[in-house]
Amino acid sequence: MRTFSVTAKNTQKSRIVCRGEVLSKALPAALRTYRQAFLFSDDLVWGLYGARAMRALGSVPVHTMSAGEAHKTPETLLSLLAAMAQAGLHRGDCLVCLGGGVVGDVGGLAAALYMRGIDCIQVPTTLLAQVDSSVGGKTAVDLCGVKNLVGAFHQPRWVFADPAFFRTLPAREVRCGLGEIVKHGALSADIFDALEQNRDRLFDRSFLASLVPANIAFKAEVVRKDAEETGLRKCLNLGHTTAHAFELLDGALSHGEYVLIGTWFEAEIAKARGGDADYLARLQSLVLTALGGIPALPPAEEAARIACLDKKNVSRSDIVLTIPWAKGEYRLLTLDAAEYGRELARIGRLLC
Ligand SMILES: NC(=O)c1ccc[n+]([C@@H]2O[C@H](COP(=O)([O-])OP(=O)(O)OC[C@H]3O[C@@H](n4cnc5c(N)ncnc54)[C@H](O)[C@@H]3O)[C@@H](O)[C@H]2O)c1
Ligand SMILES: [Zn+2]
Repeated sequence: MRTFSVTAKNTQKSRIVCRGEVLSKALPAALRTYRQAFLFSDDLVWGLYGARAMRALGSVPVHTMSAGEAHKTPETLLSLLAAMAQAGLHRGDCLVCLGGGVVGDVGGLAAALYMRGIDCIQVPTTLLAQVDSSVGGKTAVDLCGVKNLVGAFHQPRWVFADPAFFRTLPAREVRCGLGEIVKHGALSADIFDALEQNRDRLFDRSFLASLVPANIAFKAEVVRKDAEETGLRKCLNLGHTTAHAFELLDGALSHGEYVLIGTWFEAEIAKARGGDADYLARLQSLVLTALGGIPALPPAEEAARIACLDKKNVSRSDIVLTIPWAKGEYRLLTLDAAEYGRELARIGRLLC
């Protein structure tokens, strides 16, 4: 068992526990301190783990949403809030989110809003949710086609990460989580070494489970230093500016696969600006192993145009990128939008 805590400025303390038997032991024990709990999940996860959860927790009210990003909406949020109200949930009660990042983001936001904030426990069931979304207190729903447009910072009281959930995880979701782990590897020398030394085991679930504590520790430390993303936390955006552009344009792959593609492109941008060429080539080779090759992509110039429309990336007409630079080092790079377009086009041609 490994335990971490995140105590960030202006936020409540969050404890993160990596261990087995979460549904039967850790979760019931944590809930004993509450008058009432309320469980939130998606229909797919609930089909797999609902019976086990009910056996351990007894008669707890439950609300489920339809699985998938398409349902990460204000309507889903409102229907959860209404179910919580009907169950008579009070301040001092606790919302448990059992599922991937979508359930965690919607449930976390409901916990932030309900009676101006109640406690929340995250039980992340995907690799991505364990190494990334359940840690750090960012919650949100999508609105008007914009991802995470409406949200809040609300640290969960507990996060329980159990590797047993990976047994039922589809291969596509494993690769998706691997994308965020490789991103952490581009920021942390220790995670990079672990990945490089085990590149023949990148899809082995027990190897990935062994990496979860180091990934949580890494993200928890970044969040502890900068919970509200005023500085350091921006490093977690590595690979994501280019990833989001291709994701919005194309959408055929998973988010984690676009993060891998974005990391490959941004490593190439770093090479042209004096980053450590040997390390960046090793990072790109690791990315290719994780991706199984670069898939067919839409025109890179078009992706650059999309990136320039995303207000999060742009200050005036410039694009701000977090790029890998050397082992364990990143740089913030500001590029004129036209130059970013030319760079993506140049790199796109390398792949033809
Ligand atoms: N809050 C943050 O800091 C943060 C960070 C990164 C990503 N996110 C968000 O996380 C979301 C993506 O999360 P995700 O990749 O976990 O997606 P997800 O929650 O949609 O889960 C992916 C699929 O796997 C299924 N699933 C979940 N656990 C399973 C299991 N153990 N066995 C079998 N199937 C299972 C789900 O039902 C779903 O169909 C996005 O909305 C993204 O914006 C948030
Ligand atoms: Zn991501």
